[in-house]
Amino acid sequence: MPDTGESRAAPALALMSGSLRAASLNTSVLRAAARIITDATSGQVRVITVDIGGMPHFNADLDAGALPAVNRFLASLAQADGLLIATPEYNGYPSGALKNALDWATRDAADGPLSGLPTSTVSASPGERGGSFAQRHLREMLRRCGAVVVGDPVAISRASAAVSADGEFTDPGTCARIADAAMTLLTVCLDRRQAVPR
Ligand code: FNR
Repeated sequence: MPDTGESRAAPALALMSGSLRAASLNTSVLRAAARIITDATSGQVRVITVDIGGMPHFNADLDAGALPAVNRFLASLAQADGLLIATPEYNGYPSGALKNALDWATRDAADGPLSGLPTSTVSASPGERGGSFAQRHLREMLRRCGAVVVGDPVAISRASAAVSADGEFTDPGTCARIADAAMTLLTVCLDRRQAVPR
């Protein structure tokens, strides 16, 4: 392989919250994940926050190229070596906003940004099951989308009691579970980068 002199982009993990709430527990989980990844890699792994809130309801009649929010969303996924999703559970299922985002991401299913993308899932809920039903459906959905689902589901129950007064997860037990999901995903992504020639 000739050396083109081009340097490869730093590894990047995309973090996608399925909640649009400002005080979302699931978005808090991803803030903790971002801190954990940055600390563990001394900032060598880029963390990309994926915004799903501005996109319209999926409609195949719409021209995705003319929709800036959809373009930004697809571009942030395209830069990522892996994806960590934190989903809320509404009536046993992932949020509508998250389903909408996955539909936009798979509009061109054959070579969309989810195709072959290592993806891990977490969920957080004030309830006893921590959003585990939603996560089960989400993982099935991701496989249908062509993503490579990595690691075990991590469901954080009674999550509203675990966040600090300023809405952050800082307790060692919860952070260890978030770290497990994030670092398992990162290991898979780094192994894949090594296996794929530049
Ligand atoms: C919920 N919630 C909820 N929780 C759960 O564990 N299982 C469920 O099926 C549901 N269903 C549900 C439906 C609706 C309409 C609402 C508004 C809420 C509670 C939900 O987990 C809680 O609001 C979380 O805080 C939402 O996630 P974020 O926004 O904090 O990330």
